[in-house]
Amino acid sequence: MRVLLVGSGGREHALAWKLAQSPTLTELHAAPGNPGIAGLADCHPIRAEDAEGLLGLARSLDVELVVVGPEVPLVVGLADVLRRFGIAVFGPGKRAAAIEGSKSFAKDVMAAAGVPTAAQLPIARPPCVVKADGLAAGKGVFVCRSQGELDAALRAVGSLGDRVVVEELLEGEEVSLFAVCDGRAALPLLSAQDFKRAHDGDEGPNTGGMGAYAPVPGIGASEVEELVARIHRPVLAELARRNAPFIGLLYAGLMLTSSGPRVLEFNCRFGDPETQALVPLLDGDLLSVLGAAASGDLGGVAVGASAASAVTVVATADGYPAAGDRGTEITGVEEAEAEGALVFHAGTALHGDRLVTNGGRIVAVTGLGQTVTRARDAAYAAVSRIEFAGMRCRADIAMGAASGVTLSVSGGRRD
Ligand code: AMP
Ligand code: GLY
Repeated sequence: MRVLLVGSGGREHALAWKLAQSPTLTELHAAPGNPGIAGLADCHPIRAEDAEGLLGLARSLDVELVVVGPEVPLVVGLADVLRRFGIAVFGPGKRAAAIEGSKSFAKDVMAAAGVPTAAQLPIARPPCVVKADGLAAGKGVFVCRSQGELDAALRAVGSLGDRVVVEELLEGEEVSLFAVCDGRAALPLLSAQDFKRAHDGDEGPNTGGMGAYAPVPGIGASEVEELVARIHRPVLAELARRNAPFIGLLYAGLMLTSSGPRVLEFNCRFGDPETQALVPLLDGDLLSVLGAAASGDLGGVAVGASAASAVTVVATADGYPAAGDRGTEITGVEEAEAEGALVFHAGTALHGDRLVTNGGRIVAVTGLGQTVTRARDAAYAAVSRIEFAGMRCRADIAMGAASGVTLSVSGGRRD
């Protein structure tokens, strides 16, 4: 199969790494890709936001499947543009992608489907959570415990020029749960947890994600099945009923509260960096799974996973998330790989033959092991080999899971 992968981050590098192993792959192309992806695919300098450019590329390469990584092109309708020309796409059309693109649409779908989520509040009063309605690249959610925080949040959302959703502030552990969807059926992947805050101990501003691990102790195959039955499948049915079938990866960001699981958000694509942890654990041919979903028929398809654990640590530029860095030399990638880890490029570029920084999150390093502790040790041993001026990473990714913390769907946590 000839495949075009859209995107340029660590998530897309992990997907490219897995797709490149598929026995049914004949050509792998990426747009725009990155230096890591360039080792696996032919990269074409067309931005993920350039729908017309991508359509032209897909047609000239005669690709049989387009896999879309990031949310922005999906929310504006890239998959519809491609499908109109008969090209199979793994990624939802605009109407279904609104499950991520509009918090109020997501709330409406969840209410109609009977899916548990944080209650919307008619009046903004602390404690509460204030969210910008539309896409805000992780910068549109404000947890407000005081009037001061609430005032600042309302000002910030106001300056984004967006509608505001106010909801109850929930407490609990967060879990990311992905399902591959064909418009009707949902095939769950492993549970994962990401670390959104910039600093150790979950301090500091929200980011795209500083690290992740999979699977989450306590959220195994039967719990995943229970959650997908309560959350993903009713949402799929409701979207199909609204004539907006969801084909692609439906990502539920859940909070496991003492009153049961609640949806905090849906995303319409693979999570970053959860994908860098999760994909290396999948057994078998991911391309055939994504291809089957894109053609609307997951019947008879299964996804296996190894019994190992994976931990991903993201190395960022010093100023991230407020600012990125460009042009600073990166060394030690080969040494990190020699430790047995996978180094996924997230924000890198080549200056001649020198690898340099090019963004906020620079690389995502995944360690694998038979236990979370071993996977974590492998990830940190490899990260310590990578160097660039201003490099920063969290020291506590997967620390709780490695020290034996187990979660439960009903909100319990055993240390
Ligand atoms: P979202 O982009 O909606 O997932 O929100 C980003 C982060 O804000 C989540 O990962 C949570 O840590 C936090 N958050 C969002 N909604 C709530 C809520 N209702 N209660 C508590 N924390 C929340
Ligand atoms: N890791 C969070 C996200 O992909 O949105």
